[in-house]
Order: sequence, then structure tokens, then C-alpha cells
Amino acid sequence: MEDSKKPDYKEAFCLDCGFATRALHAGEHYGQPHTPSHTNPIYQSSTFVFATAEDGARAFSGAAEDAYIYTRLGNPTVKVLEAKINALEGAGVKLANPELRVSTVAFSSGMAAIHAALVACAGAGDEILMGNVVYGATEHLCSNVLSRLGIRTIEVDFTDLAAVQTAMQAHPAAKAVFFETPMNPTMMLADIAGVSRVVRAITPDARIIVDNTFATPYLQRPLELGADVVVHSATKYICGHGTVVAGLVTTTVDRLKDELYKLVKDVGSSPGPFDAWLVNQGLKTLPLRMDRHCSNAMAIARHLEKHPAVSKVHFPGLESHPQHDLARRQMKDFGGMLSFELVGGLDAGRTLMNTIRVFTLAVSLGCVDSLIQHPASMTHACVPRDKRLKGGVTDGLVRISVGIEDVEDLIQALDQALAGL
Ligand SMILES: Cc1ncc(COP(=O)(O)O)c(C=O)c1O
Repeated sequence: MEDSKKPDYKEAFCLDCGFATRALHAGEHYGQPHTPSHTNPIYQSSTFVFATAEDGARAFSGAAEDAYIYTRLGNPTVKVLEAKINALEGAGVKLANPELRVSTVAFSSGMAAIHAALVACAGAGDEILMGNVVYGATEHLCSNVLSRLGIRTIEVDFTDLAAVQTAMQAHPAAKAVFFETPMNPTMMLADIAGVSRVVRAITPDARIIVDNTFATPYLQRPLELGADVVVHSATKYICGHGTVVAGLVTTTVDRLKDELYKLVKDVGSSPGPFDAWLVNQGLKTLPLRMDRHCSNAMAIARHLEKHPAVSKVHFPGLESHPQHDLARRQMKDFGGMLSFELVGGLDAGRTLMNTIRVFTLAVSLGCVDSLIQHPASMTHACVPRDKRLKGGVTDGLVRISVGIEDVEDLIQALDQALAGL
């Protein structure tokens, strides 16, 4: 088989395999035929060589589809990652409808991916319905950047289908809706299938974009639930080891794929080959890691729910979570992120950060090791208190990204630090 055919072959071959098999094999290839390496090679090169002037001309004309020209325009190592994500996010929709094309474009960060997804859908004079609880930089992107491009964003509570319907009826020309589920740090959910139904009934062309960073395709596949676009901060669980900042956009809409490709090419927001390779390596263990993140988080959530120093635990796996039934329907398991509220408020939050062992005091999430942070004194310290409380960030709220350590050690570390409050 020709070398250039191998990535496609592996992707197609893997579509009806299980998730773990796809995570390992999809998109992989062995490099040059005369140096076939078991792990796909890192093409750490800014530019590619043409054998002849005619080959160069064919590459630039687009006639040679698999030709590489310059890494900003495409790179074989980045392509492996894109092909693997196609197979992880898109296998279900592709098997249901083989005519559908699933395309992924990789970016240098989650924010570059979100920017591209939104700008691919909307331009000057357009409106986008935006989740009212989204990652802080996504909010800033809307207020600082999209607004200057003439794109208006309208905040909507995506946990409430009636609110989505009312907002769509008020803005029927909206080009897209964008939301996260689970949301950060409240761990509330949006019903992806429900939102897709409501939006399509009013404006069939509005694009439904889901930030799937917290869940990953292992736990939740928005394209199978009716969404058009999935975005990831691949910095998190997708990479899993805290070594890279990267982003991904996957879509079933060909026109959007073309727009995304133009954006990555013309803005220059492509990831470096080594970063793409690290993310691809991380993906190979995604199912194993997620199973452990989920079981550890579940055990910690149950433990904290009974703890006298904790007034509330926010975790979709608990029966006390207001959307537990939706979580069971929409997700394979409940994820590794949880937040809880300390009875002792702001001071207790600060003390906990300074005394806890095993957990690392750091923002970000989805790493193999456990991270902890106190939004009121850290990430949300500059948000006015009223606004912060409206977003569910109470004074004593603590967020943890549960790692894959031995769960007994995590529970003991929490117990020891909570006892000192
Ligand atoms: C849900 C979510 N989306 C997007 C981003 C942005 O990703 P990045 O930091 O890779 O740009 C983050 C970062 O924390 C996030 O938590």
C-alpha cells in the first residue's frame, strides 16, 4: 500500500472498532516506507521538499492532495492527530451516514480553536447565542474580540431548554449557539440533543457548537446528539499529561471545514508538530485514564457529600445533582471534575489551598495528577462578587480535577486538610 494511503486506511479500518482500539490505531502511520517506525514520526520541519518544479506546481495547484508544502498549511504529524479525533468524535455519525464527512482541524490552543469555530460561523452584523457559564477566556473573546469584528453575542442559560427556545425566537437569525457541558465550575449540564432540537426547529441553519473539553469523546459525543461542531481544549484530558497547550475543532459541515482551514492557514494558529505528537500520544490512553478519573471522582464526591466541613458537592454522578438523569442519558460516565462548597467560606478556601497535600495548587484540569483551586481567591478574584455568585462561584467553592492516583491517598489528603479548617 502506498505510504500516502496509510493514514486514510487506518482511519477507515478503525471506524467500527471499539473506542480504545480507535484511540490507539486511528490515523497512525509508519512514516517513510524505507524507515517504517512503529510510533508515528514527528515531522519537525517548517517546510517540505519538492522533487521537481512540476511537483511543486502540482502541490500549489491543489492537484496533489496529499502533498505537504509548509507546516502552517499542513503537517503529517498534525494530520495523525486530526484523523484520530475524526475517528473518536465522528465514528458514530459516519457509521450512521457514510456520506457524511467528519473533519478535524487542530489549533495551537483551545482558545484559537474556539475563536476559529465562532468566526467560521459568523461575521460582521451576525449574532451568536453564547452560554452564560463558559470558560473566562471564551467570555473575554466575545467581549474583547468578536465585538470588534461586529459579532454580537447574547448570553443564554443553556441548562434551561425553555430559555434557549425564547432566545432563539428572539434572535432567529443567530448564526450559531455555543455552550459547554459540563460547565465550569458549577458542573451543570446542557441537554445537547434537546438544544439541537429546539435550535433546528427555529433556525435550521444555525450551527450548534459544543465545548466538549470536560467530557472528552470517550464520555460524550455531541455530533451523535445533533451538534454540528465540537471544540476541545486539547490541553486538558485529550493530552492528559499537562505538557501541551492545544485545541481541536471537529465538524460534519463541509463549508465550515473549509472556513476553519482558511483560518488556520491565514491566521497561522496551527499547532507545532511536537505538540501535536504529544497530544496524539496522550490520546492513546484516554479511555484508561478517563475510567480512573471517573471512578476516583465518584468516590471522592460520595465521601465529601458526608463531610461536615462541606455544605454541597457539585458532581453530575451524584443523585443529588439536579441533572443526574440527563448525565446518565448523555454521558457514558460522569467525568473527573467536581466542585464543593466549604462551610467556612473564603478563609476556609484559602487555608485549604495552603495545607492540602498530594493535590497540586494549579489552574487547568484533566492532568493525570490531581489539581485543586479556589476560584473566589484565584481565577474569579477580579470578578465582582455579585456577578461571581450569580455564576455559582460562592466564597467557599473549591474545584478539583481528580487525577488517577490511588483514591485512598486523595481522600486521606482531603480529610487531613479539611480537619484543619
Ligand atoms: C472548557 C474550556 N474551554 C476552553 C479552554 C481554553 O483552552 P486553552 O487553555 O487550551 O486555550 C479551557 C481552558 O481552561 C476550558 O476549560
